[in-house]
Amino acid sequence: MKIIVINGPNLNLLGKREPEVYGSETFEDYYRQLQLKFKTVELTYFQSNIEGEIIDKLHEVGFSFDGIVLNAAAYTHTSVGIGDAVKGIDTPVVEIHISNIHAREDFRHKSFIAPNAKGVIFGFGLKGYDLAIESFL
Ligand code: DQA
Repeated sequence: MKIIVINGPNLNLLGKREPEVYGSETFEDYYRQLQLKFKTVELTYFQSNIEGEIIDKLHEVGFSFDGIVLNAAAYTHTSVGIGDAVKGIDTPVVEIHISNIHAREDFRHKSFIAPNAKGVIFGFGLKGYDLAIESFL
């Protein structure tokens, strides 16, 4: 089972960035726990602050991997291109957000990914990535 976690812009700052919203753990530390927990899964991690790189990665893995866990971060609310990429690939995508996007500003309520995602998980902190991976197993 091949699963990739793709994180979008500013998620490289987890741990330092608005800890009251996103917690104080770095994603690298959390990812090590994910690798230990899901030993049977061939897990890959990719992060980019660049919209086109996220689209390229979706194209690269989207016809061979078993699952994609995607936190497109701010691009979730703006990117028709990432939404179209999710629609165009074969691999199912679970959209995830650390925070409860529906309890925040109105502009975070819109997702260009959700209509083409297998499911959406938000509001459970980093634990949401565990839940997303489990959903593929
Ligand atoms: C986020 C929510 C987005 O609205 C925001 O732009 C992010 C992170 C989350 O994981 O809660 O960067 O995707």
